[in-house]
Amino acid sequence: MSEQHLAVVVLAAGEGTRMRSSKPKVMHELAGLPLLGHALATASSLDAAFVVPVVRYQKELISDYIKAFYPNALIAEQDEIPGTGRAVECALASLPADFNGAVIVTSGDVPLLDVATLESLLEAHLNGGYSATVLTAVVEDPTGYGRVMRSNDGKFIEIVEHRDADAKQLEINEVNAGVYVFDAAALREALGKVGSHNAQGEKYLTDAAAEILRAKKKVQALAVSDNWLVAGINDRVQLSEVAAELNYRICEAWQLAGVTILDPSSTFIDVTVQLGEDVTLLPGTHLKGLTKVAQGATVGPEVFMVDSAVGESATVVKSHVTGSIIDANASVGPFAFLRAGTELGEGGKIGTFVETKNAKIGPGSKVPHLSYVGDAEIGEQSNIGAGTIFANYDGVNKHRSKIGSHVRSGSHNVFVAPVTIGDGAYTAAGTVVRKDVSPGDLAMNVAPQRNIADWVIAKRAGSKAAEAAQKANN
Ligand code: UD1
Ligand code: MG
Repeated sequence: MSEQHLAVVVLAAGEGTRMRSSKPKVMHELAGLPLLGHALATASSLDAAFVVPVVRYQKELISDYIKAFYPNALIAEQDEIPGTGRAVECALASLPADFNGAVIVTSGDVPLLDVATLESLLEAHLNGGYSATVLTAVVEDPTGYGRVMRSNDGKFIEIVEHRDADAKQLEINEVNAGVYVFDAAALREALGKVGSHNAQGEKYLTDAAAEILRAKKKVQALAVSDNWLVAGINDRVQLSEVAAELNYRICEAWQLAGVTILDPSSTFIDVTVQLGEDVTLLPGTHLKGLTKVAQGATVGPEVFMVDSAVGESATVVKSHVTGSIIDANASVGPFAFLRAGTELGEGGKIGTFVETKNAKIGPGSKVPHLSYVGDAEIGEQSNIGAGTIFANYDGVNKHRSKIGSHVRSGSHNVFVAPVTIGDGAYTAAGTVVRKDVSPGDLAMNVAPQRNIADWVIAKRAGSKAAEAAQKANN
């Protein structure tokens, strides 16, 4: 069959009341993508002629996401009639009237479903000449799911929703996964006959399968081998369970691709992250968004990193890093906070209790201890003394400072921006640098030190300090 005869409908119109959230269920995040993003990624991989997400609840928010990431999707809108059956009916209405191929239906709340499962379901559907194929799962706890009724000889009869099931039906542990393949014409006809006489007063898609059977067409129910693939998310307990399983699978895939992960249960990697060979991830590491870690780098323990790049053989320890670039062989942390726009050159160092923002720190340059570097550019091989503050904010505007290459700034300096320090310049300890410093100059503005002789002995007579001083003087 050509892909021209395939449509994939992704249901995303429900409110998801069980999430108890102001956000629609399908927009809740899982490993860096909204639930819907996972479902659309799978749907789009099938190369179908039409990918049709169905929206209604908070449709602007959901449509904006779809348009941004899946501009070719055909967004269908569900009207006020509730239920998965109605949602699919609205999807069919948005397809060309002469569309007569296969329709795969998936849900925006079933994020782990993979392309291989859909492909084999479609194949079994087409090869057997079925009008409907339902994917099922045999589970330990079927609570909440629709139960699959079969005849004594195992043939599909119907799906009964949890809320409509009697005590005996509730004991059945084969459940509807919410994933189907239908023949478009048979589905159209069946949905026309489905009512909403059920506990929820909704038009159920599940009833279309039974309706197709009643029309003397072939329907089958096939059980999936890996139940996680069809885990549906209806509340936040399920969200965390599926998140843990997905994370375990992501870690396993990276381990098999050559990444050392000491403790997958405390290492969290978004699906959007890229890792090189021989990367080591230590416990408590979170890699999020578009983060990339190059070959041989070590990240962790306890690093939270978003949309950042780590170069080859660099190390990042116990730090919070967002929107930053760390070049090869550089080192960060422990206890560093790299904010957006930080760029650390090759072999450079951002050390302990250092915060940076919009700061370009050149190759081999170091900011080792207790400093704030904001809106600054530092050349190559410079060393910023301990406890240095780049005072970038005058209370109204932010200003940039520029430090040259091979600069040595003393401890406890303040660079009052905007200020420029030339190559090879020094600044003395405790300097408040308000004026530019030319290359090779030493800047200092500390007042000369004055020692008042025997002040402690006279003014603190009898104290331990005075006693110690007297003893030392004898
Ligand atoms: C549904 C199935 C159930 C199955 C389960 C698997 C029906 C009637 N029940 O139940 O048999 O075991 O999935 O996860 O289909 N949606 C719409 N429009 C609506 C209602 C829902 O688009 O009017 C969307 C939701 O956004 C969601 C999906 O359909 O993505 C499933 O809806 P949900 O309310 O979660 O159905 P379940 O109760 O889980
Ligand atoms: Mg559901």
